[in-house]
Amino acid sequence: MDHFHLRDGTLWCEDVSLERIAAEVGTPVYVYSAATLRRHARVFREGLAAAGPVHLAYAIKANPNLGVLRVLADEGYGADVVSAGEMKRALAAGIPTAEVVFSGVGKTEGELATGLDAGIGQFNLELEEEGVVLGALAAARGVRAPAVLRVNPDVDAGTHAKISTGKRENKFGVPIDQAPAMFARLATVPGLEMRGVACHIGSQLADLAPLEAAYARVGELVAELRAAGHAISRVDLGGGLGVPYRREDRLPSPADLGAMVARVTAGWDVELMFEPGRVIAGNAGVLLTRVIWVKPGGTNPYVIVDAAMNDLARPALYDAWHDFEAVRPSGERFVASIAGPVCETGDTFARDREIDAVARGDLAVFRTAGAYGATMASTYNSRSLVPEVLVDGDRYAVVADRVAAEALIAAERVPDWL
Ligand code: LLP
Repeated sequence: MDHFHLRDGTLWCEDVSLERIAAEVGTPVYVYSAATLRRHARVFREGLAAAGPVHLAYAIKANPNLGVLRVLADEGYGADVVSAGEMKRALAAGIPTAEVVFSGVGKTEGELATGLDAGIGQFNLELEEEGVVLGALAAARGVRAPAVLRVNPDVDAGTHAKISTGKRENKFGVPIDQAPAMFARLATVPGLEMRGVACHIGSQLADLAPLEAAYARVGELVAELRAAGHAISRVDLGGGLGVPYRREDRLPSPADLGAMVARVTAGWDVELMFEPGRVIAGNAGVLLTRVIWVKPGGTNPYVIVDAAMNDLARPALYDAWHDFEAVRPSGERFVASIAGPVCETGDTFARDREIDAVARGDLAVFRTAGAYGATMASTYNSRSLVPEVLVDGDRYAVVADRVAAEALIAAERVPDWL
């Protein structure tokens, strides 16, 4: 459920009309609903409550805007970060350092040191050598780094290949069959405090079966590590729960996930952790755009909007579907393709789709754009970096500015030898 709804024939976010935001901020612009973020944060927490007390670290990569992070910090969420930049955002938003989990397959030595100096709560190790380097950095500081070993359970998550992470050939985690020996070696590294294991098999999961298979393997590993004498206090079960991108999509709910987790992890006797991203932020945001032209096409018309692949990359990258709705729907529908102004054919949001009939100057939204939207934006074609707005009740704030060409040009220079 989200808080974008029609009121008097036009689309509102909570108690603010999108027409007003378009008039005052301009388009394209991302619009987030604080009430929806809060609701998703609570529904996820309540769903997982079936599995006992869990530690929730919001995966910042999904939507790292400071305003969004503050809403989730106020909901008691920690943060899963994958770079020093994300760590700085988490801390700037007021998330306690102890609640920050540092994931990522390529943490640099400098980033590991930054995390240690900040005193973050957990490092998710992706390879043995990383643990050795982290241990040395910690020992030099007279501390022990809290760490878990991320394992690759070799499970096909059944999602898009580019966002699958739990197959043996993927770059993530260590092969689960090698984990016991590796864990034993890491447990002897001075400066490391090995607390448990982590796993994350992919994103936009529409089926719980692969997750359940992965968790079951992790459970066997926990038992094996305990039998070998290791104290295992934490298991991080990652993120990945999918969201409905089409109105008719039916996905497992957080409560379904919680029931499965409760069943699979019964008796583990560990602190469970989760790293949800998309399920929290996805349907809490839309990309608001204006129709520049409706261009007669060779087959169907092209709706050319002022948002493009640089603002919302998911259709171009993953052939992802985002529902498209007129802000003031007339009730008329037509079949059209939707594209942005960028000069490549990949800049197409939808092909030959039945959509609300729109005309030049009309406003429309791409739905489910709150996760992996603005954060993946670029300035390709020297387009502005898209701004972001956070609505809360009848208030809204611009929580990220439009960064226009002048600012981008100001960050560049022509060498004086040219
Ligand atoms: N934890 C780890 C270690 C991850 O790699 C990810 C996502 C998450 C948690 C959060 O997963 P979520 O709950 O959001 O599914 N740009 C792609 C998605 C990339 C996901 C990367 N990792 C997209 O737009 O679909």
